Amino acid sequence: MEDFGKVAAATAALRYVSNNMVIGLGSGSTANIFIEKLANRVKSEKMKIRCVATSISSKELGTKYGLNVVELDSVDTIDITIDGADEVDDDLNGIKGGGAALFYEKIVAKASDKNIWIVDSSKQSAKLGSFKLPIEVLPIGSAHVYRYLDTELGLHPTYRKNKDESLLTTDSNNFIIDVDISNVSDLYDLSNKLIKHVGIVEHGLFLDICDTLIVGDAPIQIKHRK
Ligand code: A5P
Repeated sequence: MEDFGKVAAATAALRYVSNNMVIGLGSGSTANIFIEKLANRVKSEKMKIRCVATSISSKELGTKYGLNVVELDSVDTIDITIDGADEVDDDLNGIKGGGAALFYEKIVAKASDKNIWIVDSSKQSAKLGSFKLPIEVLPIGSAHVYRYLDTELGLHPTYRKNKDESLLTTDSNNFIIDVDISNVSDLYDLSNKLIKHVGIVEHGLFLDICDTLIVGDAPIQIKHRK
């Protein structure tokens, strides 16, 4: 089956959910599989859980399946967030934002007691950088941010576009600039530089955020952050 790894990881994540929890719903195809499975379990076991979404699409999907999706600011804390990732290394650091949801995903992740990532084995990597790093930028002044990423950091930026070549806008109406970090040796340093640069709203480097990684393989692999 094409999605065997995603389905296996999403199924394995269900065991971390218990009654009365607040669950963060990730975004992307693997998270979508989890959302459907979670809704089925909540229905069949008559569980009482509340969910917080990481994108408009995960909010819509969760609501469609009957989950109680509430606003982030209406909860004190999120017990666990279960999300996908675009690339993840052996330290459970990763790149997210392939679906342009990195900003909400990071806010929800930071508000969560525990973050679980569900991936198929293709997402694992010894060194991050095969996937382009998404950076969410304010539209105003984005050409200046682009120049900074290009000439000062040498990261070969490209604006993310829609199929019709218009610039893609995120759920927060910002742009995404994807950069190449395959030659960057210190990701913490890069993360600090990016987040301090005016006009950059957030970036898709998720360092020291994932607590548990579930790799949908046969057999399932579960790794914990050291
Ligand atoms: C969304 O912006 C991303 O961070 C997703 O979580 C990531 O792209 C994984 O998506 P898939 O599960 O579709 O590969």
